[in-house]
Amino acid sequence: MDDYILFSGTSHPAFAQEVADVLKTSLGKVDFHPFPDEEIYVQILENVRGRDIFVVQSIARKPNDYLIELLIMIDALKRASSQSITAVIPYFGYSRQDRKDRPRVAITAKLIANLLTQAGADRVLTMDLHAGQIQGFFDIPVDNLYARPILAEAVKGLKLSNPVVLAPDLGAIKKARAYANHLGVDFAVVDKRRLSTEKVEVSAIMGDVKGRDVVIVDDLCSTGGTLVTAANACIEAGAKRIFVACTHGLLVGQAIEKLNKSPIEKIFISNTVPLPEGHSLEKIIQVSVASCFGEAIRCIMSAESISSIFN
Ligand code: R5P
Repeated sequence: MDDYILFSGTSHPAFAQEVADVLKTSLGKVDFHPFPDEEIYVQILENVRGRDIFVVQSIARKPNDYLIELLIMIDALKRASSQSITAVIPYFGYSRQDRKDRPRVAITAKLIANLLTQAGADRVLTMDLHAGQIQGFFDIPVDNLYARPILAEAVKGLKLSNPVVLAPDLGAIKKARAYANHLGVDFAVVDKRRLSTEKVEVSAIMGDVKGRDVVIVDDLCSTGGTLVTAANACIEAGAKRIFVACTHGLLVGQAIEKLNKSPIEKIFISNTVPLPEGHSLEKIIQVSVASCFGEAIRCIMSAESISSIFN
């Protein structure tokens, strides 16, 4: 018998199964049986008394439903006398609202931290938080994994000519620097202005992209506006070919069509969020990060350092 039990919510069971495969275990049984008015009902169908529990749930695609489902699962597990509960959140939704940058707005990242803790989570395991400081919104341990080692290795497989890594906005500079160090190349930055939740504009590129292959790196792609605007600006500035490495593919609405029509050649994206169905994924190469999560769970259970493995 394993010392722990891994459960999956309904947001991304394929990912949870991959993590279970990495750990050579099976997923715990849960009954999801919504009421006719769509109120969520969850019953854990395993004895969890005294056990360490990991619940895998991405807060993406239907973030409101999946968040509530995760909270309800944690509550059920807590009340069933589990020893510890780790919320494994491959994509931590609501993390973009991480500060009060306008009057009368919420800090949803903090609100979600409070809700998870209040429900009974003892630890959070996630990947590429929108801002690393969100860890400080919790008073429980947060392990924030990086997709960079895996995505950068995928990018290395390309035959790039005089490459440069590009941050598509000022918030991505730290990530771009880490990718540039990993690949042993320099980096450039786009000065992006967000006009609305769907529209962005570029006022300048800081750094040299002329005649070079550009690898744009970002934590997430939602409407695709940021990546496409940055790619167009690079082409105007004389860049040769454009590639993307991005952790979380929310890819909402017409994002994939927009990316397909853009000058971007290939988009390496992790599998923290399931790819949307019914689109032509000609440019998208999905790279699995399930092994990172599996290895991190193994480290948590054996009290080993996670950072020594992933940085
Ligand atoms: C912004 O700070 C994020 O890192 C992403 O660049 C942004 O959220 C992507 O959104 P979209 O694809 O809608 O431009």
